[in-house]
Amino acid sequence: MKVLALNASPRKQHGTTDIIIDYFLEGARQAGATTKKHYVTDLDIKGCTGCFTCWTKTPGRCIHRDDMDWLIPETKEAEIIIFGTPIYNGNITHYMQRMTERFLPTLLPWMEESGDTTHHPLRYEKKPQKRVLVAVAGFPDHQAFNIVKAISPDSLHILLPSSQILQDMEGKKLMKGFTDAVTESAKQLIRRGEVDQETKNKLVVEHSTEIKNLIREHANRYFEAHLEK
Ligand SMILES: Cc1cc2nc3c(=O)[nH]c(=O)nc-3n(C[C@H](O)[C@H](O)[C@H](O)COP(=O)(O)O)c2cc1C
Repeated sequence: MKVLALNASPRKQHGTTDIIIDYFLEGARQAGATTKKHYVTDLDIKGCTGCFTCWTKTPGRCIHRDDMDWLIPETKEAEIIIFGTPIYNGNITHYMQRMTERFLPTLLPWMEESGDTTHHPLRYEKKPQKRVLVAVAGFPDHQAFNIVKAISPDSLHILLPSSQILQDMEGKKLMKGFTDAVTESAKQLIRRGEVDQETKNKLVVEHSTEIKNLIREHANRYFEAHLEK
């Protein structure tokens, strides 16, 4: 089984998105999967121009020649895809947005009714695929994730507010229940095709009022100390 992670944090290996992705990939490897990770900011991904050439003149082929030429086939090969993003201005980063817009050639132009909404069908036959959303936010409150939850209703959600908590050993100890659940969720997804509710509940972190206050104080002290006067 192939697991592909796409990390759209510009802080790459120094960020918290990456720490969480790595816990997931570790579990995936323990369950026998092969894993791969790309940092989206390292890739040459040009912006969609909205020309619809990929739907009209050259069906399935974008006008741009860049890293999407190999990334789209690679995503088709994966059984599990992890989309990792920090919350920026309440949403996914623009690096993630730019990349996901470029998947337009993989859809057909036709508008089809789907329940009470409309969707575009897939252009290609695709093997069953699971999607995982890893999102981290600086604020301690859960509202930070409102938009990403709404745009990824079918994904397994791994959501960590006050993400800086995972950046030191003390915080890592405090969050062990969460990081263990991330690793466990990968194993379950690979072995059973789904994650049990108890584990899922641990993947969406809700900090206590005490931790929220500590995090706010800690963050304010950090930036006060680093402010060049
Ligand atoms: C430009 C910018 C916008 C941000 N906007 C938000 C936000 O709207 N809500 C929030 O909770 N955190 C926000 N943050 C904080 C990031 O989500 C947080 O630092 C996160 O840990 C970054 O992920 P990373 O460590 O993987 O890079 C923002 C950070 C930056 C740089």
